[in-house]
This record gives sequence, C-alpha cells and structure tokens, in this order.
Amino acid sequence: MFLDFIIRGGTIVTADDTYRADIGITRGKIKAIGVDLAGAESLDASGKLVMPGGIDVHTHLDMPFGGTVTADDWTSGTTAAACGGTTTVIDFAIQDFGSSLRKGVDAWFARAEGKAAIDYSFHTIVRDLKESHLKEMDELVSEGITTFKLFMAYPGVFMVDDATIFQAMLRTRDNGGLICMHAENGGVIDILVKRALAEGHTEPKWHALTRPMSAEAEATRRAIALAEMAGVPVYIVHLSAGDAMEEVRRARERGLPVFAETCPQYLFLSYEDYEKPGFEGAKYVMSPPLRPKGNEERLWNGLSTDALQAVSTDHCSFCMKEQKEIGKGDFSKIPNGAPGIENRLMLLHEGGVNRGRITMNRFVDLVSTRPAKIFGLYPRKGSITVGADADLVLWDKERKWTISAKTHRMKVDYNPYEGTEVTGVPDTVLLRGKVVVRDQKHVGSTTDGAFVRREAGTARTPEGSPR
Ligand code: URP
Ligand code: ZN
Ligand code: ZN
Repeated sequence: MFLDFIIRGGTIVTADDTYRADIGITRGKIKAIGVDLAGAESLDASGKLVMPGGIDVHTHLDMPFGGTVTADDWTSGTTAAACGGTTTVIDFAIQDFGSSLRKGVDAWFARAEGKAAIDYSFHTIVRDLKESHLKEMDELVSEGITTFKLFMAYPGVFMVDDATIFQAMLRTRDNGGLICMHAENGGVIDILVKRALAEGHTEPKWHALTRPMSAEAEATRRAIALAEMAGVPVYIVHLSAGDAMEEVRRARERGLPVFAETCPQYLFLSYEDYEKPGFEGAKYVMSPPLRPKGNEERLWNGLSTDALQAVSTDHCSFCMKEQKEIGKGDFSKIPNGAPGIENRLMLLHEGGVNRGRITMNRFVDLVSTRPAKIFGLYPRKGSITVGADADLVLWDKERKWTISAKTHRMKVDYNPYEGTEVTGVPDTVLLRGKVVVRDQKHVGSTTDGAFVRREAGTARTPEGSPR
C-alpha cells in the first residue's frame, strides 16, 4: 500500500497500549499502522510519543456572559487549542429566553463556521423547555448535536427547576441524547450572595465563600438521583469539590452511567488564590469556585481511580482590564470564568504523568479517548486506529515550557498558571493529516476546522459505551 504521508519511528500511546510503529495517512485518515511503511512524504517522529489529538468537551468561545463577551473568539481560542494539542472542541450554544434551541445552535454555527482552526461540535444550553423544545431536542440529536447542558445554578440567567431537568432527561432516554449538568444549588448560593453583599463583603474571595462545597455536593447528588429516576446517564461538568466527586464515585460503584469531568484550575489552583492582594483574586472567579488546598489531591485520586473520566477546560476567558473589572466593588458582578484551552494537556501531563499520579495511557484516556467515547466521537476521534481521523499529537516528553501570558496564544491579558514550568509539550499537531502546529508554532490556517456530527446513544454504561 502506498500512502500519502507517514509518521515515522514514533512511539504510539493510546488509552490502552504503548508501542513503536509508523502511521500511514491518506486523505486525512489513518490508513495503516505498521513498520517500514512507504509513502510520498514522511515526518520523523523518533524520540516522540504519538497520541490521538486532545478533545476539549467544555469550552466557551465568543460567548456573551456576565455583561460582556468572552475575550477569545473562535479564531484565537481554537488556534490556542491547537497549539496546546487539542484538535476538537465541543462548545456551548445558548438558547435565548423565549426562543428555539435551533436559533441558538444556528447562532453558534455563524460564530464558528470559517473561523475554527480545529474541528468542533456543540452542546445546547437549554433555558426553557416547552413541548416544541422537546421536539427540537430530538431533531438536534438526529443531526449529531447530541448533548444538552442544564444549570442548577445562576437563578434568573440559566437555572432551571428539577421538573425541567427531569423532563429533559426523560427525553434523552428516548432520543439517545445526554444531559450535562452544572451542579450547584443556585437557590442557596443566591441567598448567601445577597447576605454577604448586605454585610458589606465585596472582594473577589466572597465569590468562593458564598458557594460552599456542600452546594455542589447536594446538587450533584440530586442530579444523579434525577437521572437514576429517569433511567438515563448524566455527565457532571466542571466538578470541583471532593465531596461532589464522592457522589459520582458512589453512583458508579452502584453501576450507574454517571460521569464527571474536572478541569486544570481545580487541580492546580486553590481558594488561597482569591486572597491575593487587591483585585487579583478576580482572575480566579469561576463557578464552581476554587476549593481550599488539599481538595486537589482528592481530585487527582479520582482521576487515577476513574471516579472522574475526563479533564476539560471550561475555557471562558475574560480580560482583567475592562472585563473582570466590571465586578470591582461587587464580587457578584465579576464575569465568571477563566482561560485554559491552550494549557490543558501540558498541565495534566506535568501534574499527572511527571508527578507519577497517572500513566501516559491514562493521560491519553482523560484528555482524548474517554471524552470521545462519552460524547459520540469515538472511534473517529480519540483513537489511533485504521479509519480514524488522523488527528495526532507528537508529544515531546523532554521539552521544557514556561506558561505565561507573554507567550500564550489566547487573547486574554493574564494566565492563571503564570510562571508554571512544565516538561512535556505538544511539539507537532496534525488535524486530519495536515500539520497545523510545528515546533510549537501554529502553521495551519484558522479555517481548517470543520463541524463534526456526533453519534447518539453513547454513555449508556459506566465505561461510556453504548449498551
Ligand atoms: O465560571 C464558569 N464556569 N463560567 C462558564 C459558564 C459555566 O458555568 O460553565
Ligand atoms: Zn457551568
Ligand atoms: Zn462552562
């Protein structure tokens, strides 16, 4: 077999195996895996690990939120993602109040089309669920937009009640969709926020002090109970608290298809960051908030024992200047969210693989393969198999990198991990067989990305596979 392009001499690392082989690519797909493959062109991968491209299933690009719009649009966000070894994102399309789900998804297509450096898909954020919206859920699932985010927090903005959640879940039992849950008790938090402000507490740290761990654990428990009653899987997004994770673990031990992601911010940062001088704590205002030191070890344990199945970023970037500043004098007005789309793989590799907490195979599983399975992208994405898209990362385990806003590709004026030194970076990245990052520099076009239809009916077992 003569192939277009060969990745030669690398060590392939998948979620299950590590072995030396060449990868042959034709028309953007993996066509052969073997030794001494012959092809028109080749790329020397000796000394490098070759892994499937990262999949970030939780991003917010060009999103209006908190009285402003995220700093990263599709061009900057997906270019930064590519440089960080991510080749597919799933972003959140928002249903406007009183409007259809379809209009929300169309608006997100308009934002992304022709502006994405990597492949993409959408989840739909549901704010309002009438009979017509339930029908739209079916249509979207059949079009490959299979997942819906519901919020148990942000009253008046995104929060829906238990009856709405239960209705949406019942619908996914029939149409094969999956509910993604923002699990925090928004009613309780709202009262705590109002009380703190009335008592004159305005600094950023009060964002965390009014969003206790138990508000997350309670909502997680409730989300799992609702999913169990509906007989469907549920995926908890941006899980931050060890107590919430134990709810997920217990459910999984009972054989329920309950899944959760955590994010680098909850593994590397902590409540103590809110206590930095002046307004600096605003950099870390996100929901759920950062938790006290020690909590991160519980999450690392969850990543190694499969209480957590994925690491995404919840990338939602706002500049300090003119954006986070909106909340000077009132912590509840600070736009919620933090950047990370570029740094996910290098951070997880540093804290996980280099620190001996997880293996390289588990790393691949958490950043690529398991999210691909849960979200209906597998085996086209998240795998190195014949027939898969040739989305590949040549990982340089020896190369050092210092994370900094001075060099990052994200369009945001700070980096929460400023000064963090890592060993291990994505040296070269291929999107469907085309080199888009070489030697840590973006060499692709910012229009290379395409929409990906996803399969329904996945995540029906605790492993994330169809039944
Ligand atoms: O603070 C956060 N997480 N901002 C993004 C919106 C969300 O809830 O995911
Ligand atoms: Zn959320
Ligand atoms: Zn989010």
